[in-house]
Amino acid sequence: MDISVQKQNGVVFTPQWVADFMVSEILKNQKIIGNEKILDAGCGEGVFSAAAVRKFSELSGKPVERVIEENIYFIDISPDYIKTTKKNLQKLSKEKILKFNDILADFCFYNFSQKFDYIIGNPPYVRIQNLNERRAQLQEKFKTASNGSIDLYYCFFEQALKIIKNYGKICFITPNSHFHSFAGKNLRDLLSPYLEKIVDFDYFQVFGDATTYTAITFLNKDKPSMFLYAQNFKNDFSNLEYRQISQKNIRSERWEFFSDDYSQKIKELNKKYSKLNEVADIHYGIATLKDDVYIFSPEKFDDSYFYFKGYKIEKSLCVPIIKASTYKGLDQNLYLIFPYENEKIISQKKFQEKYPNAYNYLSDHREILESRDKGGGKNYEEFYAFGRSQGLKTSFGKKIITSTMNIAPRFYVIENKKTSFFAGYCVKPKYEYIDIYQLCDALNSDFMKEYIESVSRSYRGGYKSYAKSFLKDFVHPYFFKSQPTLF
Ligand SMILES: C[S@@+](CC[C@H](N)C(=O)[O-])C[C@H]1O[C@@H](n2cnc3c(N)ncnc32)[C@H](O)[C@@H]1O
Repeated sequence: MDISVQKQNGVVFTPQWVADFMVSEILKNQKIIGNEKILDAGCGEGVFSAAAVRKFSELSGKPVERVIEENIYFIDISPDYIKTTKKNLQKLSKEKILKFNDILADFCFYNFSQKFDYIIGNPPYVRIQNLNERRAQLQEKFKTASNGSIDLYYCFFEQALKIIKNYGKICFITPNSHFHSFAGKNLRDLLSPYLEKIVDFDYFQVFGDATTYTAITFLNKDKPSMFLYAQNFKNDFSNLEYRQISQKNIRSERWEFFSDDYSQKIKELNKKYSKLNEVADIHYGIATLKDDVYIFSPEKFDDSYFYFKGYKIEKSLCVPIIKASTYKGLDQNLYLIFPYENEKIISQKKFQEKYPNAYNYLSDHREILESRDKGGGKNYEEFYAFGRSQGLKTSFGKKIITSTMNIAPRFYVIENKKTSFFAGYCVKPKYEYIDIYQLCDALNSDFMKEYIESVSRSYRGGYKSYAKSFLKDFVHPYFFKSQPTLF
């Protein structure tokens, strides 16, 4: 199949071990009568249809060929895939299959004449910008497609909920970006009453080289009051540790999978104590977009200059800087060429006159600097301006810094007000009565570890995101609701 058609149709095949798990879980503890209808939505080569045939035949005691003829339905937009699925299903039986329940159509717009007991699949993942002419129609028909940067799989969920029976179940493997994205809000609102179980692969790549953060979602049209949530970062489903979560604890702004105990604890803490962003400001560090040009370790220095790689740079133009992502409390011997005064870029004329050596050094790297932002660096105020203006003021001053990803909380107080930082965040108390060291202890506490474990996303190697979006809502008993009375 043509690559662009594959992209438009979001063609990625599900590994057998995942399809087998999804099918056996959706049919687990079900009372099987024998006339149930199972739909494979976007069947591709039929990995789900085949797994469902095997499992349903085993559970119902019906021969494979009768299951294929009576119980299994499959739909795809591509005639080639419908053909392949038929071929693959035929391979499961020595008897000739007399009738397939195949549907060659667009799942989102097909008028189904009946409802289904089970719908399974791996819907196409196609971002809105690649949907071309179908985009407007999808936006008109589906509420989940109406805002922002949505994805075709949103519509698959919505359509599946329309054509599932009252007590039916749905199981899809999809990206997990709708758990927290802005565009995913309508989908979150639609799905949350029906959540039965989520197995979240998060950073773990189920589809080999496709960098997609995925999760398996089980929905039950019967609106369960609780659901189970587990993360899984391996190639099998052994030893899943599920947390039980009440539907009522799920928030529409962002899905956080707190266990009920933890939700209760947070609620209690919230009544009495503030969130971090009420007692402190959180800022990004400096972003030059070319750190290896601006940030250096001097080989030697004298009263006026730093020396490195055959250049000398005026000391008075440099500030000490910390790389937050690797900082362990020890001096890193890093300096930043900082061509700013009062947050304004120093003019070329002044720069050349006052700091001729630094100007010469940056001029030698002009081409590299101009290649930032895919060549947009040519349009910066000056070629030596930083890629982003963040942190020009806020990265200085007394502060607590941390990396954006950590295995455990790693917050450090930086006393020197003249030191800047990059590759991380800083936290600065909003009020004078807050002791920065006590605040730092609170950030390094087990409360933070537990909080991040519960709300944040995971990365390879046990790393957790310490992004501002998570940090800001952290609550700790040290964060009093109001200023203590002073006598
Ligand atoms: C991610 S692949 C999954 C294929 C197969 N279910 C599997 O898991 O290996 C998505 C499938 O959906 C099909 N597809 C894409 N858009 C569709 C649509 N609007 N209606 C029905 N099928 C569609 C593609 O042709 C492709 O086979």
